[in-house]
Parts: sequence; C-alpha cells; structure tokens
Amino acid sequence: MHYHDDQKLEQSPVVANCCMNRERDLNGTNGYDVELGFQPLKFLDDKVVQNGMARWLDLCCGSGKALIQAENFIRCDRLPIEITGVDLVGMFVAHSSSQLTLIEASLSAWSPVGSFDLITCIHGLHYIGDKLGLVSRACSWLNHDGLFVANLDTGNLRLNPGGKSSRAFAKVLRQAGVEYQPRKRLLRCEGHRGLSLPFTYVGADDEAGPNYTKQPVVNSYYEQR
Ligand SMILES: C[S@@+](CC[C@H](N)C(=O)[O-])C[C@H]1O[C@@H](n2cnc3c(N)ncnc32)[C@H](O)[C@@H]1O
Repeated sequence: MHYHDDQKLEQSPVVANCCMNRERDLNGTNGYDVELGFQPLKFLDDKVVQNGMARWLDLCCGSGKALIQAENFIRCDRLPIEITGVDLVGMFVAHSSSQLTLIEASLSAWSPVGSFDLITCIHGLHYIGDKLGLVSRACSWLNHDGLFVANLDTGNLRLNPGGKSSRAFAKVLRQAGVEYQPRKRLLRCEGHRGLSLPFTYVGADDEAGPNYTKQPVVNSYYEQR
C-alpha cells in the first residue's frame, strides 16, 4: 500500500474535487439541519439561554454558505453567538461580520482558541487523512456540555495489516463515549473529552473510490495498539 502524507493528500483530485457539494444550505432539503438531525441555530439559541452566549465551529465548512445564512439570523435577532468555519479551500462566499470568521486552513494542523458549544463536520471527514485524530481533537475542543456531530463512514477506516474495514472502530469509539449511528453514518459526542483511542495513524490513500455519498473519498489506515 502506498500512503499519502497530508500535503500530498490535500493536492489530490479527490480532496480538491470540484463535484463535491460545498454549497449546502443551513436549512431545508439537503441542508445542515437534515444532516445533523436538528437545527443548529435552535441548539445555539438554547445555549444562549443557558450560558448567556454560544460558539459554533464548523469543520470543512465548504463555501461557508450555511454559516453566512446562520449569521444573517443571529445579526437580525442580535444574538450573542460566534461562528467559526474552517476549510482547506478559502473560496468562501463574500461575507463581513464580527460574529462570523471563515478561516482557510488544513484541519490536519489547525487548532482553535477557546472551546465550543457546537462543533459540526458535514461530509468533511471523508476527505481527511487522520479522521480519528480530528475526531479526538474536536472532542477536546468542546465545552463541558458541548456537542460534536460529524458524518463518518467507518468503512473508510481501515485496519493494518491487510487494510480491511473493521467493526473495531465503531466499538472502540462507543467504549470511549462517542455515539456512532451506523445507519445514518453519524458520529456524536457530548461534552468535552480527551479521547485516547488505541489506534496509530499510518497514512491515507485517495483511491478508495466512492463511499455512500457517491463521491470518491479517502481511506484512512490505522494500526491497533
Ligand atoms: C463535501 S464538502 C462539504 C462542505 C460543507 N460542509 C457543506 O456541506 O457544504 C467537503 C469539504 O472538506 C474540505 N476539506 C477537505 N480536506 C480538508 C482539510 N484537510 N482541512 C480542511 N478542510 C478540508 C474541502 O475543501 C470541502 O470544502
């Protein structure tokens, strides 16, 4: 198996694929709310009631369209909510607001300042090399009562030697307190957590072909410790 390092992966046509949907809306058909199973603004509103303010971090935010739509609502309603989006490709929809920050960076290296009430990653993990590494880091960026939700196809996590797909990943994630819904391929973690998963990242390859999203994705390889 020939693995790609992060730099090579990020230049791959699979990761820089112009056919992937980077323009998802906040709500409605195919929107963030449908993917997450709840309305992010409603969730953040509730956090404002509880804590006086709220922070949302969206990993692999694409063009930032959903975040800009959210920012329009919070500005009109004068809600104390801060939104941060991060994507490898800085081709963001034009925006200007002190409550919304869109950052061009690779999530293989980027880390935020402070913690968040809500962290989302909508169809972004499919393209990340060390998917479990990013899941672990995102869980550590949550507030004590924060929520992390991400689409993840555990079929794209492969166990070496042999590179077979394994049920071990979902089992170990569950044991670590991270919920995984196989039918929806949705990962969910409540509350700040320092995950210590017994897997060492070995590398990734961009020849996995399409997964359930029908888009070509990246397989990530791990050794079990
Ligand atoms: C299918 S798009 C989803 C975008 C957005 N969440 C949406 O639903 O509209 C996947 C996004 O992941 C981003 N991405 C891939 N690898 C990344 C990396 N290493 N760091 C940050 N973003 C990455 C891509 O640039 C792309 O915008």
